[in-house]
Parts: sequence; structure tokens; C-alpha cells
Amino acid sequence: MVKVLFVCLGNICRSPMAEAVFRKMVEEEGLSKQIEIDSAATSSWEHGNPVHQGTKERLARENISVAGMYSRSLEDRDLANDYIVAMDESNIKNIQKFIGKRPSGQVKMLLEYAGLKRGIADPWHTKDFDKTYEDVFLGCKALLDKIKKEL
Ligand code: 4NP
Repeated sequence: MVKVLFVCLGNICRSPMAEAVFRKMVEEEGLSKQIEIDSAATSSWEHGNPVHQGTKERLARENISVAGMYSRSLEDRDLANDYIVAMDESNIKNIQKFIGKRPSGQVKMLLEYAGLKRGIADPWHTKDFDKTYEDVFLGCKALLDKIKKEL
């Protein structure tokens, strides 16, 4: 079992989008029993809140549902993930602060798996969830290609 955790600031826009898109890709490849997927926030600001309307609507166009997904904060048990996948550079810093000196899985930004050293387009101020979806799709595809080689 490979465990993957997507992380962003609020766990309502970017990381739940990555979780849902990645889950669909994994299902389509018939790998659901081999890859466990979750997401979390570096903050507690949105704790218990559902996925942002913008993410929900963009994913509905891909026939992806986010029903039953709610924001939660990063917890100690999350360190057991093989891949802790951040959406941007500030997430990386916050995740590393949370981990401290403890052992954890690989901590990288999602687009690094696609060879890009930049964050996922943040829709919080721009409201451009299309750009976020494009970035998330690119990163998830690259991450899945990498994990498939390890299975
Ligand atoms: P996310 O987006 O980190 O992609 O879920 C945000 C959610 C909440 C806030 C900022 C970004 N906020 O400032 O509350």
C-alpha cells in the first residue's frame, strides 16, 4: 500500500481538488486497493468546512463529486504517508515546521513531479479554478506515473 496525502493552507480549494482528481485517476487505472489517498490543511481556519464552491463546480464538469469531503488539519498520524504532497512553497515550509525532526515520507510540491519548480495556481484571490484544475491534473498525472513504477 502506498499512502499519499495532499496538503494546502485551508484544505478547501487546492488539496481536495488534488485528492479527488488523483482518486479518479487511480480508480481508472484499477489501483484503488494499492494506493490510499487523503488531504489535509496546514492551518485550522477551515476545519470542518466543505470543499469550496469553485472547486466543487470545476470538478462537477469532470463528473467528480466532492460530497462527504471536509477540511481537517494535518495530524501526527499523517507523517506515516509515503508522499506528503504540498500545493505551494509556503505549504512546504509549514509542513516541515510541523514535522520537525520526526521521520516522514517524501515532502514535495505536486508540480515537482512534473518537473516544475512552482506552486499550483492558487484560486483563493483569482477565482480561476480552471487554471488550478490544469495544474492539478498535470501534477497528479506525473505523480501517478511515478508511483506506478514502484508498485
Ligand atoms: P486552499 O485555499 O489552501 O487551497 O484550501 C485557501 C483556503 C482558505 C484560505 C486561503 C486559501 N483562507 O485564507 O482562509
